[in-house]
Amino acid sequence: MEVRTDLYLGDSAEQLKKLPDNSVDLIVTSPPYADQRKNTYGGIHPDKYVEWFLPISKELLRVLKPTGTFILNIKEKVVEGERSTYVMELIIEMKKQGWLWTEEFIWHKKNCYPGKWSNRFRDAWERLLQFNKERKFHMYQEEVMVPMGDWAKSRLKNLSDTDKIRDNSKVGSGFGKNISNWLTRDKAYPTNVLHLATECSNKNHSAAFPEELPEWFIKLFTKENDTVLDPFMGSGTTLIVANRMLRNSIGIEIMPEYYDMVKEQLKPVELYLLEPKVKYGNFEPERRSKVR
Ligand SMILES: C[S@@+](CC[C@H](N)C(=O)[O-])C[C@H]1O[C@@H](n2cnc3c(N)ncnc32)[C@H](O)[C@@H]1O
Repeated sequence: MEVRTDLYLGDSAEQLKKLPDNSVDLIVTSPPYADQRKNTYGGIHPDKYVEWFLPISKELLRVLKPTGTFILNIKEKVVEGERSTYVMELIIEMKKQGWLWTEEFIWHKKNCYPGKWSNRFRDAWERLLQFNKERKFHMYQEEVMVPMGDWAKSRLKNLSDTDKIRDNSKVGSGFGKNISNWLTRDKAYPTNVLHLATECSNKNHSAAFPEELPEWFIKLFTKENDTVLDPFMGSGTTLIVANRMLRNSIGIEIMPEYYDMVKEQLKPVELYLLEPKVKYGNFEPERRSKVR
């Protein structure tokens, strides 16, 4: 099987125009946060953030398939002792643009080191906002099931009467649960909180994703041969993982040094064929990648 990787150097607002309508199954990305990391790739002022992002999200809406999903990693910063509201404003404006805001996952940074501020504690989580074009989108929930764990043993030992029948929600939501249904199962569906360490290995990028982050969403929302896009690719974590998982991938990056770095890392079809175990883990030789 051959998977394809397309890389573009430049501003996403422009480069995205080169992609056809309804051609992407999943977008996973972490744009620069407002006013941060000024020394590396330029910050956008919190007051200008929505205005800056909307032309990009408009293009993303166009290129995403109706069954596709957009995962946006973002977190509002603190400005003069207050949390800024640009993420909330962005959600509202994206809804007006035509997006459905379908879910919010929390990325809990479980290896967050200690710190002390006078008026708050150390920030140990970020938002992963999920947007869709349609209410019915592809979602392969069985792919991300987790071991039931010890919780089940203790919880299921003492089943109450309501646990043994379907216990309908008291708030009339239409949801119900029958705990005893889970007695014989060894896997459960995960929650919307992802406990992942931040990336520590020397990725040559100050804000790289841990590989598990794109991996989890790629499993949940795509199948082999689908197409994954990261319009702010940085060190290319999303593309590298997509490639390994036999998904086609598209990356856009404004900084030539990151673009070149990713290109170098994803380039060598021939090299990969020569040293599959060294360079590409457990890939089988017929699984190759082409970078354009
Ligand atoms: C937070 S980093 C992404 C890190 C990435 N998730 C990774 O794992 O390495 C954001 C990236 O977006 C790039 N960038 C900033 N503005 C851009 C724009 N208008 N178009 C394309 N890329 C941009 C930056 O150079 C930076 O590498």
